[in-house]
Amino acid sequence: MRSNRTAVVTGGGRGIGQAIAVELARHGLDIVIADLDEEGMEETRSLVEAEEQRALGLHTDLKHPESVQSTIETALAEFETIDALVNNAGIAGPTSPCEEISATDWDETIDVNLRGPFLACKEAIPAMKSQGYGRIVNVASVTGKRPLEHRTPYAATKMGLIGFTRTLAAEVGEHDINVNAICPGSVDGPRIKRVFEKKAESTGQTFEDVRQAAESESARGELVEREDIAKVAAFLCSSDADRITGQDLNVSAGKVMY
Ligand SMILES: NC(=O)c1ccc[n+]([C@@H]2O[C@H](COP(=O)([O-])OP(=O)(O)OC[C@H]3O[C@@H](n4cnc5c(N)ncnc54)[C@H](O)[C@@H]3O)[C@@H](O)[C@H]2O)c1
Repeated sequence: MRSNRTAVVTGGGRGIGQAIAVELARHGLDIVIADLDEEGMEETRSLVEAEEQRALGLHTDLKHPESVQSTIETALAEFETIDALVNNAGIAGPTSPCEEISATDWDETIDVNLRGPFLACKEAIPAMKSQGYGRIVNVASVTGKRPLEHRTPYAATKMGLIGFTRTLAAEVGEHDINVNAICPGSVDGPRIKRVFEKKAESTGQTFEDVRQAAESESARGELVEREDIAKVAAFLCSSDADRITGQDLNVSAGKVMY
């Protein structure tokens, strides 16, 4: 495996993306954090540097092709290679019945969650091809596979990301570029807490009831931790996963088994 490896992590300023950035740093990669959130990027930068790896935060809006292009160009100028690209950034999109969703909200969800990873791959793949090496990890969701009522745009993007992963894997495999997706179940943390609070409010249940119901949906009766996702992302970027490509791996405590 090459030394001085670099990973670009979109949405690395907080949540799952931050955990992935730190875990990849522990595996010896320098990290480019591509996010909108300046403060979050600064926090991740210190965490990566604490692992004695180099880190660079680049303000990136995945909705804009020129912003993504500039991030990849700067990453290459600063670090020379992009060995891993983790397309983690995503938004929840609207929570409404399908017929009440505006075309604008639909488009925004697609732009960030599906077009964003496409743009990042489009920009990074030429460099990966000329290096003759690359690892791409797309963070999808179990919602790409099982229904989540009132979240049609989100579900469409996550299923779309799985299709994108498979076809891209077939296209670039001969260049030693692997492309895989991770499908997290509900990850414990502030984001899921807000979802539970909203649901408790709208259904009249208590927060604890909503949480317990969510936990009981998985075989193990628990949510997953962001570090669980980070460890799988680091595995998929490691030489232990050299023969794994085009897969969508559930990390859901057994909530989804297909
Ligand atoms: N948290 C969960 O329970 C869960 C479950 C399944 C899948 N996922 C997926 O995991 C990924 C990360 O989720 P999270 O919970 O850490 O989310 P989060 O909201 O905590 O973090 C998302 C990050 O993406 C960044 N981002 C948002 N829009 C962006 C844009 N246009 N350009 C650049 N960066 C942008 C945000 O600034 C933020 O730092 C998402 O793709 C999400 O769909 C999350």
